[in-house]
Amino acid sequence: MPPGIEIKEGQTRILVPESHSVHGPGTRTSDVFFNRQMAFGRDVSVMFLRGLDRDSMSIFDAMSATGSRAVRIANEVKNTHVTANDVDPKAIPYIEQNIALNSLSNCVHSNKDLHILLSEQSFDYVDLDPFGSPVPFIQSAIRGCKKKGIIAITATDTAPLAGAQVGKCRRRYQSEPIRGYMCHEGGLRILMCTIAKELAKFDRGMRPLLSFYADHYFRTYVQVEEGANATDRSLEQLGFMHYDTKTLERSTSKHYDAEHNKGPFWLGPLHDKALLGRMNARDLEDERRCVKMLELWRNELDEEVFLYDVSELSSFTKMSPPKLEDLLEALNQVGRAAPTHMSPTSFKTDIETKDVVSIYSETSPDRRAH
Ligand SMILES: C[S@@+](CC[C@H](N)C(=O)[O-])C[C@H]1O[C@@H](n2cnc3c(N)ncnc32)[C@H](O)[C@@H]1O
Repeated sequence: MPPGIEIKEGQTRILVPESHSVHGPGTRTSDVFFNRQMAFGRDVSVMFLRGLDRDSMSIFDAMSATGSRAVRIANEVKNTHVTANDVDPKAIPYIEQNIALNSLSNCVHSNKDLHILLSEQSFDYVDLDPFGSPVPFIQSAIRGCKKKGIIAITATDTAPLAGAQVGKCRRRYQSEPIRGYMCHEGGLRILMCTIAKELAKFDRGMRPLLSFYADHYFRTYVQVEEGANATDRSLEQLGFMHYDTKTLERSTSKHYDAEHNKGPFWLGPLHDKALLGRMNARDLEDERRCVKMLELWRNELDEEVFLYDVSELSSFTKMSPPKLEDLLEALNQVGRAAPTHMSPTSFKTDIETKDVVSIYSETSPDRRAH
């Protein structure tokens, strides 16, 4: 048995190395990787796959490390046939032990470079969870994804995607990131744009099923769609943004110009709301967090690209922020507005910026005091 300690996550027993990350992105060490904080991400995989409710699904966890995600899926989602793969031979005893600990007959291990395995076999669902950027692995995931399959991708290179390392974002993603309050929404949409462009090279399009930013990472689940029409439809969702932090002006354009010089981004929706409606947080590791996130994802205006933050509006108007629920109530008298999952102080709305500013000002406690 490999050295380590046994933990329980969700309904699953997992042997993990004794020294492992408990928060933050986790770092590459000589040990097999495990990060306790990623339990939420694994909870989401379980609820996502349960929500799909398929009769049979082949799952490839390409970068399994201890096999934590793979064994949780095999143990907690019915009708799954899981391959837990990692190129590192040190990971394999952990994966084997975790399959045995849960007496799983629907999970096998594999010790191959994912590029090789995915050029030989294909699966209904392919999961990429690398250290840092997924860019070097996306083409292989596409190659090894069956027709109409699903690809799930994590990116932990938040600094380039969210605009703290502009040069790195240009080199890796060929995209100009956005700073300020939009940085995480922008980072997620750069990742999604990159996946859409890679899929297009194979005459494949995509439909996002669930896409989010949490803790230190971005993650998206996309349904792959076949053919030239589907590809063109998904390329039509790509475009550029204009976002002026001084005036709060914002707009999108299909084409790059002097004003719309951030991007390209995925400008389409982030989620499939019908699928979110079928997902539930029962028996997960952190049910409370999952319930809260599910509610945010279901209700947010994910088809709107731009978010506002009450701190941004406060700096702009030089007026103290109202309670978010009071502001949302006032905005909802005029149009649609809802919180976003990106930050507890942000919201999206379909109301024009000048009206958002005037409703904010009217709702501010400063105005009420006069
Ligand atoms: C961040 S860890 C994965 C964590 C894991 N998914 C979890 O939930 O605990 C990344 C893993 O990818 C593996 N890896 C890196 N390159 C790979 C490749 N080309 N093929 C297969 N595995 C690879 C590493 O050995 C490492 O274990």
